[in-house]
Amino acid sequence: MSTYHIQTYGCQMNYSDTERMEAYLQALGYDKSATFDEADLIMFNTCSIRQSAEDRVYGHMRTIEQMRRKHRKITVVVTGCMVRKSSSRYSSQRDKLFGTMRELDIALRTEELPKLATLAREIDPESKIPEIKEESLEDYFKIDPTHSSHQSKAQAFVAISNGCDKFCTYCIVPYSRGREKSRDVQDILKECEKLVENGCKEITLIGQTVNSYGLSQYDKEEKTFEFLGEKEPFIYLLEEVDKLHEKGLVRTRFTSPHPKDMSDQLIHAMATLKTHMPYLHLPVQAGDNRTLKRMNRTYTVEHYRKIMAKLRSAIPGISISTDIIVGFCGETEEEFENTYNFFNEMDFEHGYISQYSERSGTTAAKFIKDDITDQTKQERWNKLNDGLLRAKSKKAHERFLGKIVHVLVENQEGKKCLGRSEHYKTVQFAAASGSNLLGEIVPVRITKAMEWILEGELA
Ligand code: SAH
Ligand code: SF4
Ligand code: F3S
Repeated sequence: MSTYHIQTYGCQMNYSDTERMEAYLQALGYDKSATFDEADLIMFNTCSIRQSAEDRVYGHMRTIEQMRRKHRKITVVVTGCMVRKSSSRYSSQRDKLFGTMRELDIALRTEELPKLATLAREIDPESKIPEIKEESLEDYFKIDPTHSSHQSKAQAFVAISNGCDKFCTYCIVPYSRGREKSRDVQDILKECEKLVENGCKEITLIGQTVNSYGLSQYDKEEKTFEFLGEKEPFIYLLEEVDKLHEKGLVRTRFTSPHPKDMSDQLIHAMATLKTHMPYLHLPVQAGDNRTLKRMNRTYTVEHYRKIMAKLRSAIPGISISTDIIVGFCGETEEEFENTYNFFNEMDFEHGYISQYSERSGTTAAKFIKDDITDQTKQERWNKLNDGLLRAKSKKAHERFLGKIVHVLVENQEGKKCLGRSEHYKTVQFAAASGSNLLGEIVPVRITKAMEWILEGELA
């Protein structure tokens, strides 16, 4: 029996896609390999958000070269956000990656996953690759995912859309994943229902701009959601998922929303739905209007501030995290100071701070000069990440000292349990000897607040 190994990089969307890729490979007759070294087919599900993410894949290619020198027969597939054209090493028109990755056999655009079997036959006509029903699907979302990203069946990602219409000037996603397309609402609900029937307690809805579900150019042309009238499609979806509370769903989350589509309807739904957790990751990217404009973020600092105020008044105690890019083209010292001060003012409880990395093909790469030195980018990152973010995260953790939170256990090794609270805080505690709490939601009293983690004991 042939085996596969999938190496996944990037955001939750890629992890969710990997679950569909696994299902497809299993339908083709492959088994999951215990290790990278033993697999017959190695697939890299790549991310191109920053150069550093791409470099890691190139690093692995050297290992493959060594494996092949030892006469190991391996099929190498690269998929995900680095691929522009699905092709094999024998295709007449090949992806550019074939020019830089000598070890590559197949390049596959994520949404063209159904074509993988055809490409595999192209590189190995002798192999008897069976015909499977998944090959004829036009929409890769129709492939049932394995839901293997989480250790327990109590948690799952459910992809609701793919692609992005927003075109932030620095970002590769609209090019790598294409225009935004929403998944069929009934398919999403069926998947959620099945998950809950199988014991899922927490569903995270995912998409590049998850709250623009049903609002894309494509959806407008197709008039898919006209039947809803004034109600936003994303609200409808959240309400329908929330009904699964009766069948055992306890928690819903979604990621990542875009500030432009954080409507009053959505804030109201988050505040009133039974299963929605008091946490939101709302990327702001910069706290200066000139920077935001160059980034084409389509909102201002004032608008973002208003959303935050509404969220905090509708959902008292909500925990909010964000993404920031430092060192974007033309970012002056004053602009950076404004971003720093805004982060401080907004009291973000967590954040991912990135140093700007130019991505070929984006508007910024074409028209705006990447004129901030690596040293300045690093200094700004240090100031924001090691200076402010650490302190904010610790302060946010301290408010839970002595309190009881409910932790969904994601990982257990011996007695040591790790999981997330309602507010998405990572909590560590010890289980009683011999008990298995994986996938359970348990009360934990917080005894210690550190920078990135809380410690507690079973209450
Ligand atoms: N759709 C989400 C973000 C997806 S990309 C949103 O609009 O907020 C995840 C994060 O990567 C972004 O929030 C941004 O902070 C970072 N990022 C994207 N492009 C980048 C680039 N060229 N250089 C550095 N960081 C980048
Ligand atoms: Fe990229 Fe902007 Fe789309 Fe987010 S909204 S995926 S940052 S283009
Ligand atoms: Fe990376 Fe693609 Fe996600 S570029 S961050 S894997 S959408």
